[in-house]
Amino acid sequence: MLGASSHVGVRAAQRSDAEALVGVFDESWRNAYAGIIPHLHLDLMIRRRTATWWRRVIAAGESISVLEIDGKIVGYATFGPARHRCKHQGEIYELYITPIYQGLGFGELLFESCRHELDLRSLNGLIIWALIDNTSAIDFYWRRGGRPVASTIDRIGRAKLEKVALAWS
Ligand SMILES: CC(C)(COP(=O)(O)OP(=O)(O)OC[C@H]1O[C@@H](n2cnc3c(N)ncnc32)[C@H](O)[C@@H]1OP(=O)(O)O)[C@@H](O)C(=O)NCCC(=O)NCCS
Repeated sequence: MLGASSHVGVRAAQRSDAEALVGVFDESWRNAYAGIIPHLHLDLMIRRRTATWWRRVIAAGESISVLEIDGKIVGYATFGPARHRCKHQGEIYELYITPIYQGLGFGELLFESCRHELDLRSLNGLIIWALIDNTSAIDFYWRRGGRPVASTIDRIGRAKLEKVALAWS
């Protein structure tokens, strides 16, 4: 899967990445949220992220970075201005790595790349929302200096899912 001469890079998503992003989204969301988000809702969220959806948001100029290894897309992140008004101006909305590529330093690479892009846009401070049951993601952000600043409850079907916001000043 990875060799000494593997080429690893992060770049802005292009419309031609849409099909690959469907696969990365499906695999990484199922792996992260099975048993947390009720199955039918998770399935619906995944089915909504079609190639057409990705092409549309990429064409609209949304900030989407992809992680590419030897020409294959194995992760993505979306980011931009914080969705809720707060003192942290930048937000990473989604950051997902395909399961078999997790724990190899690529999440860190993508995270740092998003931070750099937000800095270039003069968005100071960073906020990221994560489901409280997504402990591996919360640990990952904690070890990178994120600290909880807010929490809320999302209702998905009959489930109540607590979300926490981690922030960097
Ligand atoms: C959370 C997530 C993005 C982290 O990405 P990742 O690629 O697994 O994380 P990394 O490998 O970069 O970092 C994990 C650890 O592995 C270490 N690591 C292992 N091998 C490494 C290597 N070769 N080079 C650098 N770091 C390495 C890192 O130092 C890090 O340790 P630390 O956190 O104690 O510093 C990823 O696990 C993921 O996609 N999870 C599911 C989706 C999700 O929950 N997304 C967030 C929603 S808010």
